[in-house]
Amino acid sequence: MEELNQFSMPRIGDMAPDFEAVTTKGKIKLSDFAKDKWIVMFSHPADFTPVCTTEMTGFALRKGEFDELNTELLGLSIDSIHAHLAWVQNVKNNTGVYFNFPIIADLDMSVSKKYGMLMENESTTAAVRAVFFIDPSKKIRLIMYYPLNVGRNMDEIIRSLKALQTADKYKVALPLDWVPGEKVIVPPPATLEEVENRLNDKSIELIDFYLAKKSI
Ligand code: BEZ
Repeated sequence: MEELNQFSMPRIGDMAPDFEAVTTKGKIKLSDFAKDKWIVMFSHPADFTPVCTTEMTGFALRKGEFDELNTELLGLSIDSIHAHLAWVQNVKNNTGVYFNFPIIADLDMSVSKKYGMLMENESTTAAVRAVFFIDPSKKIRLIMYYPLNVGRNMDEIIRSLKALQTADKYKVALPLDWVPGEKVIVPPPATLEEVENRLNDKSIELIDFYLAKKSI
């Protein structure tokens, strides 16, 4: 893959750039993650800051849901491993919440640069709040970017992960505000024969030939 410059960004559909990094759970290499796991990798601007503490607490409190979705969590900031360790202990002592997932200490910014987490007009030294959804083949499937001063929405992160996994499993698309249990979108027909079949299919909710929903 072409070398990415400091502020270039991988895009949806790209293979996730590989890296080796120091984390709160020891050294890890992205390509060593289990081949059947999804990965949600997220950056935060800095340890010992308020919004970041609420966000990391959110990931920690809902880690069980990510486990059920066969998904590994992987945090990152441009802080030292010592700062990470101290922050994790500090939050645990203050609130009882333990950040029980690896957090990358990206002091040399090498991972942040590969993933376009540094946005020069926001900060050249702190990563923005990025979330990368990486599928088991290590392809980037969805990217979120939030600025330094706005925390993310954990429900939306989990909803997006469920939507991606549902799309893959059932070969469907998901409409506005979809949540599990609701009808899904049947991919639009590509041939006249498929149009005819669809018009006669009693198992789907047909709004028009190009828009149909079904229960899964
Ligand atoms: C925060 O997490 O509160 C924060 C971090 C960096 C810049 C602004 C806010």
